[in-house]
Amino acid sequence: MRTLLLLAACLLPAFAADPKLIERGRYLVEDVGMCADCHTPKTDKGELDRSKWMKGAVLDFMPIGTPPPGWHKTSPDLTSTSRLWAKWGELSMLKYLSTGLSPKGTPAGPPMPMYKFNKPDAEAILEYLKSLK
Ligand code: HEC
Repeated sequence: MRTLLLLAACLLPAFAADPKLIERGRYLVEDVGMCADCHTPKTDKGELDRSKWMKGAVLDFMPIGTPPPGWHKTSPDLTSTSRLWAKWGELSMLKYLSTGLSPKGTPAGPPMPMYKFNKPDAEAILEYLKSLK
């Protein structure tokens, strides 16, 4: 049993570093979910700031009318060393990406979309976010 656990512990980091999975996650985050549009601050020129990639941002847009209840003016840091990761861990993150529900069961607050990625996509996104420091 102990040998098995040890083996699993050795294999897990190997899975986490699968470059193909991380690349798929990058594609889903950068080109499909457009997560960086909200989760990355912009430079003075209005471009996404690569030096603060996915580190959370103050949103630069608002609804024209009254914002919906619970409207957030900021988005959190999604990189692996963030408070959010420390609080949630992988299982909560996977659940959130595939249901749009937080660990408490509350829905994503606007304007965060309620994504319902399938399991392979959610896992790829998870690996990509984990690779961001
Ligand atoms: C339109 C803007 C927008 C986009 C696009 C967006 N987010 Fe968000 N996200 C937010 C805002 C605003 C919050 C804060 C809302 C909240 O805490 O409920 C947030 C919160 C989160 C949270 C934390 C939720 C919580 O309850 O603390 C995670 C995880 C997250 N986003 C992941 C993602 C991922 C992954 C993508 C892309 C697949 C993405 N977001 C795309 C705006 C966005």
